[in-house]
Amino acid sequence: MSSSDAGQVVEVWAGLRAAAIAAYQQAYAPYSGFSVGAAALVDDGRIVRGCNVENAAYGVTLCAECGLVSQLHLSGGGRLTHFLCVGSSHEGEPDLIMPCGRCRQLLWENGGADLVVLTPAGERTMAEVLPDAFGPENLKN
Ligand code: THU
Repeated sequence: MSSSDAGQVVEVWAGLRAAAIAAYQQAYAPYSGFSVGAAALVDDGRIVRGCNVENAAYGVTLCAECGLVSQLHLSGGGRLTHFLCVGSSHEGEPDLIMPCGRCRQLLWENGGADLVVLTPAGERTMAEVLPDAFGPENLKN
């Protein structure tokens, strides 16, 4: 990777982190008290976002990634190339968090093995955070 490529990747993550924090501020999480914001870069340069939206029937809570995937399709589709999510139960800047298991499956469908996720431990591919995934290819078996 050249130094200008590396600089662009740093800018991508900074832009996504700002977008995710703005989404996090719109979260509706009165039951868990844990707000989440997610943001992703699409292969045409768009940024899509989502926040968690909880429900009095706890089990039907929408994770932030659900809103993000809906916005992806609503705004023209495409493939996710870079993703991060932030969350916190307290005041102040939220931290990077891992997407939950169900949401990794959502990300797999819309970004595949090469989608890069910024985790608390650094950059990981989807192939690393969801090994041996079930995906569209498996429906051909
Ligand atoms: N949550 C997300 O929005 N995304 C994740 O990947 C992890 C969990 C939300 C769901 C619930 O509203 C709150 O975080 C606590 O689990």
